[in-house]
Amino acid sequence: MPLILETIVTTLSPAGDLHLVPFGLIREGEAYVLAPFRPSPTIVNLEANPVFAASSPRDVRVIAGAVSGRRDWPVADCARIPGKRLADSFGHAEFEVARIEDDGTRPRYHGRMVHAESHHPFIGYNRAQAAVLEAAILSTRLHMLEPDKILTEMAYHAIAISKTAGPHEREAWDWIEDKVAAALGRSERVLANPTPHPDAAR
Ligand SMILES: Cc1cc2nc3c(=O)[nH]c(=O)nc-3n(C[C@H](O)[C@H](O)[C@H](O)COP(=O)(O)O)c2cc1C
Repeated sequence: MPLILETIVTTLSPAGDLHLVPFGLIREGEAYVLAPFRPSPTIVNLEANPVFAASSPRDVRVIAGAVSGRRDWPVADCARIPGKRLADSFGHAEFEVARIEDDGTRPRYHGRMVHAESHHPFIGYNRAQAAVLEAAILSTRLHMLEPDKILTEMAYHAIAISKTAGPHEREAWDWIEDKVAAALGRSERVLANPTPHPDAAR
């Protein structure tokens, strides 16, 4: 199995509009392969502008937000390609599409890295961030999975949220919970909203 890095991929539409979505980048030797399922705005964009940036967000709400209708995150100009990258990231890399393996379901774009840059020190892993990442992926597969499987997996990821989330991780989790609940027609949540602190109203 190749290593897959979960990133925020940014591309530009033929009209120059930014498109920001989470994608797994598959590492294959020197190349990083982007494999979007059709139909996909990312594919349309890569056909017009065959470059992309991949960023590692510091705030996991970017990942949860991008799959729950919140895609307006600050970006900055790329250094070597005509494109944008996520502004607040541990680091980012810029790619030119060197080769395309066309496919009716999932074409593969082989990216050649032309630039990489660190922006912020990475101090440590956080379980709640990993849980949000997993839940965000689950939430893009709701049409393919049985409700029982979705809820069982969410219940497991909720443990890390309840034990290790900061406010951003908790908010990101709640966005995914809302998306899952709406898709399954549920009113209750896997992780109950925290009881407000008695001092919170003061
Ligand atoms: C962490 C993460 C990784 C993802 N990786 C992929 C991927 O490799 N390929 C894909 O088609 N969708 C992937 N998705 C789902 C896409 O982000 C989502 O379907 C998005 O709308 C695809 O962008 P597009 O509409 O430009 O194709 C991933 C989602 C998450 C949360």
